[in-house]
Amino acid sequence: MLRLRSWMFVPGHSEKMVSKALALDLDAVMLDLEDGVVPSLKASARPIVAGALAGAGPSRPARYVRVNGIETQDLIPDLEAVVGPGLDGLVVPKIETVEQVEAIAGLLDRLEGGRRLPPGAVRLMLAIETAKAVLAAPALAAASSRVSGLMFGAEDFSRDLGLPTFRTGRARDFIYARSAIVTAAAAAKVTAIDGVWPDLTDEEGLEQDAVLARDLGFAGKSMIHPGQIAAVHRVFTPTAEEIAFAQHLISDFEKAVADGSGSISFGGQLVDRPIYERACAVVRQATATITMA
Ligand code: COA
Ligand code: MG
Repeated sequence: MLRLRSWMFVPGHSEKMVSKALALDLDAVMLDLEDGVVPSLKASARPIVAGALAGAGPSRPARYVRVNGIETQDLIPDLEAVVGPGLDGLVVPKIETVEQVEAIAGLLDRLEGGRRLPPGAVRLMLAIETAKAVLAAPALAAASSRVSGLMFGAEDFSRDLGLPTFRTGRARDFIYARSAIVTAAAAAKVTAIDGVWPDLTDEEGLEQDAVLARDLGFAGKSMIHPGQIAAVHRVFTPTAEEIAFAQHLISDFEKAVADGSGSISFGGQLVDRPIYERACAVVRQATATITMA
């Protein structure tokens, strides 16, 4: 299964951006009703997002809606507007406790029943964007079978930590939070998606940030602009060289096992079962078609 790599935020009040995004070569859209939409436009954004979901075509890009947080008055009207056929999942912002995940899952249980959706159809991508959420990440990831992944909310997290207005650390700033999120997601067998790179003019910075995220174990990255998609796909898709290397390694290791040896030297490096299994995962990822995270 090729994991969903590119997740783009789209302001829900912009009919133009919403329809443009649904036609892009993108793995997942996040139609935004939360911080990308000012309070005075939230009511008019809901029908735009609902209309786009109702009229959406085939399965790619996957369609997620970022609803407002559970502590706001906006969550219920958001859910009333968007839960229905065409919705793959919700991005849930500022989640911090298992009880909050359970409460949202309970609201969905009730709504799905009346709206021609199979139970559990609406998945949850939990935005981990406060210190409290990072510490609770393992429990949050396992809180409901609806949870499809954890997404790092880098900008809100920076606020919680008291970091400067503009990030300068070329991503060193988030090593602990990012690794904690990836590990929590892996333990619960769900996907982990990195936060956004906010500087639209700094392509090199985006690429470096994406490479670091991939090396830390993220399956993909969230984005704010169509100009960021190509770099994210490049970084989170195995290259032809990586695939060929993995295939060669698999073949040599399988021959060695048939000859009774559990580890080999491959190009001067130790290869044993976990390394072989990682190579198999690279090949699987490269050959499968995109399916839901
Ligand atoms: N989704 C869909 N389309 C987008 C887009 C997005 N996130 N960002 C830009 N576009 C479109 C523009 O509408 C424009 O389309 P056009 O060529 O048909 O006119 C094209 O891509 C090029 O955009 P550009 O002119 O470079 O940017 P902009 O000045 O229109 O917008 C932002 C810049 C930052 C305002 C815009 O990218 C945006 O709103 N991003 C989302 C921010 C967000 O969601 N923040 C909250 C989550 S962290
Ligand atoms: Mg936010």
